[in-house]
Amino acid sequence: MKLKLKSEAVKADIAVIFVNEKVLHDCEDKKLLESANFEAKESQLCMLHEKAKLYVGLENFENDNLRAAASNMIQEAKKFKYESINISHNDLGNIQALVEGIILGGYEFNYYKSKNEPSSLKVVNIINEDISKKFEKAFSDAVIVAEATNFTRSLVNMTPDDMTPDDLANEAIKLAENSTKLSTQVLKYKKLEKMGMNAICAVGRASVHKPRVIHVAYKPKNAKRKITLVGKGLTYDSGGLSLKPATSMVTMKMDKAGACAVLGIIKAASELELDIEVNAFIGSAENMVDANSYKPDDVLTAKNGTTIEVRNTDAEGRLVLADVLSYAQESVESDYIFDYATLTGACMVALGSYTTGVMGHSPRLKDKFTFAAEQSGELTATLPFNNHLKKLLKSSIADISNIGSKPYGGAITAALFLDNFIEDDMKEKWLHFDIAGSAYTDTPWDCNVAGGTGAGVRMSIQFMKNLLN
Ligand code: BES
Ligand code: ZN
Ligand code: ZN
Repeated sequence: MKLKLKSEAVKADIAVIFVNEKVLHDCEDKKLLESANFEAKESQLCMLHEKAKLYVGLENFENDNLRAAASNMIQEAKKFKYESINISHNDLGNIQALVEGIILGGYEFNYYKSKNEPSSLKVVNIINEDISKKFEKAFSDAVIVAEATNFTRSLVNMTPDDMTPDDLANEAIKLAENSTKLSTQVLKYKKLEKMGMNAICAVGRASVHKPRVIHVAYKPKNAKRKITLVGKGLTYDSGGLSLKPATSMVTMKMDKAGACAVLGIIKAASELELDIEVNAFIGSAENMVDANSYKPDDVLTAKNGTTIEVRNTDAEGRLVLADVLSYAQESVESDYIFDYATLTGACMVALGSYTTGVMGHSPRLKDKFTFAAEQSGELTATLPFNNHLKKLLKSSIADISNIGSKPYGGAITAALFLDNFIEDDMKEKWLHFDIAGSAYTDTPWDCNVAGGTGAGVRMSIQFMKNLLN
């Protein structure tokens, strides 16, 4: 399906009309719609086939409502035999939300379906007879960001055997090969061992698919800022010897969602040609069980020399991130360092499965990011650090333990663990995003269909755009 911006009406099979109760009042089809019980309420749809019109109800035209309504609309439109749709739209304020609703809501992942029956819908025209340069840019930017979000979703949705650490590295290489603006470097297992990245090596060593550290760089000529992104890329998390129960293991292919998000972000940043240098680092491994598994009771020496007592091999993401955060900070200087990780079930307990947990030391940075997330339509909430929780990571045998000694505040203790690998001069520039809940969904919500959601992409690009304004 292609989304096109047109400056005049073209022929199409149906016209889509968004209406709220107020607009419905003056609508030419009011009588007909009323007899069909259509009241223009949120999530109501009414297809008038004879009139070639699809009416879509929404509470108001604010971004979040329009995005959800557009998503609803496109899913409905795809059910019929229509090939083209027209939507008249000239509001610069919510064109991004409209585009996102259509591209994100219209997303399908059919890679594993043997009988793939594509919808007949080929083109969606957005018609604005008074297109300004600004409108055109808002439209094309929104398409880039939404498609990058879908790119992230598709990577997340790939199964563990089809997306091993090496496959993920190849995806990064492919991404860079298809762009003149990106470059990649991949570090393999032996090299990681030599470089002292013992924590990621321990996590990944029981798997036949050995770990990789992947660096993708976007270095525009006139970069005004530099951002480092770090993503957790567990292509499967069985829990290791601290094995997950069977029901918790299902969906753990999504434990690479942080890595997939940073790839989506750098893809979008480069296509938008943002004047920001972006360095994306991925720590990718498969947490498996084998005679060679790392064990509870092991003590690992991370890249920065910190010793870690392993008390639970299922708290593996933080071990991977420990090494990759150190490596990222050694490799490049930056104004910000953000990490994205499906890190804790505790974050879902705290916030529900729609909201990303945001943690860090700088209240200003957290506020700035929260503002961007709200603009982008992603849900976030900040979780506060405190020294009492920090003390729960004490170990009697090593510098720190990989889990807290009490069962509460797990999302925060995980972030406080990561804090041990953030250098002093980066403390105020660091944010940690726990996307355990927000990165994946079993059931559709908002503009998300079941599967990977692409959490992290839209909000991070919005943050970057705000930096440049
Ligand atoms: N990948 C999981 C976290 C997770 C859980 C993501 C559910 C998405 C949905 C992570 O590696 C993990 O297993 N964390 C443990 C930590 C615990 C052992 C301290 C958890 O959350 O149970
Ligand atoms: Zn785990
Ligand atoms: Zn994990």
